[in-house]
Amino acid sequence: MCDETVTEASVLLDWYDRNARTMPWRIGPECHGSGICPDPYHVWMSEIMLQQTTVAAVRDYFVKFIDRWPTVFDLAKAKDEDVMAAWAGLGYYARARNLLKCARVVATDLGGIFPSDEASLQNLPGIGPYTSAAIASIAFNQPATVLDGNVERVMARYHLVKESLPGSKEKLRQLATTMLPAKRFGDYSQGIMDLGATICTPRSPSCGICPWAEGCKARDLGIAADLPNKLKKVKIPTRYGTCFVAVRQDGAVLLERRPDKGLLGGMLGWPGNDWSTDKQEATPPFEANWQVLPAEARHTFTHFHLKLHIHKAIVVNDITQDVGAFIDVETFDVNDLPTIMRKVWKLAISVA
Ligand code: ADE
Repeated sequence: MCDETVTEASVLLDWYDRNARTMPWRIGPECHGSGICPDPYHVWMSEIMLQQTTVAAVRDYFVKFIDRWPTVFDLAKAKDEDVMAAWAGLGYYARARNLLKCARVVATDLGGIFPSDEASLQNLPGIGPYTSAAIASIAFNQPATVLDGNVERVMARYHLVKESLPGSKEKLRQLATTMLPAKRFGDYSQGIMDLGATICTPRSPSCGICPWAEGCKARDLGIAADLPNKLKKVKIPTRYGTCFVAVRQDGAVLLERRPDKGLLGGMLGWPGNDWSTDKQEATPPFEANWQVLPAEARHTFTHFHLKLHIHKAIVVNDITQDVGAFIDVETFDVNDLPTIMRKVWKLAISVA
């Protein structure tokens, strides 16, 4: 016999017990009450990776990082360039720089122990309100309100909040806080994120199988798919640039490390000019028989589209240059480059 009152939270926890997604960093609800606790290092690592990135994209990166740096002490000792290379392709590279900074603070100043409360977590590099709430609840079972895009959507629909995001964010946070359970805070946080990701989806929510269908005001009115309202996105501009792919006869390639500050900060890339909204002539890193490729590499960042022209040259082995450094063919791994630079390489090698 169970004498606990049925609340929205208890309904969600029951649903999570039956439907939790399996993730490499997650201690599933089947372990609830077994004494097995999530490792705060794993939770922190996964939550940093999951900022602005999908679960599907993060899985393999998480496994790779934990295999290579099994503890926060291992990560704190890692070389910057190794971590940046391992992060390549995941995007938003400031996260990787903050990941390392944070690991070093936790390893050196905090004896390897992550703080358990939201305020102390937010003093660490790369941890804001969302991530601190996720870590506090999932790793330490604290009553913290996680509010990511999934939870905002669930709240806007359940409570029929018609005001537009981002203005409605604080209201949604307050509503989410009123729904917290009395225990199992970590499972609840993960449950509500799973609900948003699998049932209460942006375009065609599966209201028919939603554990919160009863009580959902937007569903009652048949307008769940229309919420949350969002302010119209402004059109983003296009920037242009040129990059120079120099390949030595022995196969070595010329790369430079980008400055720590700014887009793709700390990552390797092909030498080139600054990206700007007007098309400008770029100066090659040295005189050579530069061939202009017929295709351009394209990529969309948060605030602009980028189109990169590519110039390529095969150069002699004893060439001297002022920018960057030649990386031997055995050492060069295209996967160490950010996505746009990988695209440039793919196009460069597709031309004889
Ligand atoms: N998105 C961000 N963090 C998550 C988590 N812990 N579980 C599921 N989805 C998430």
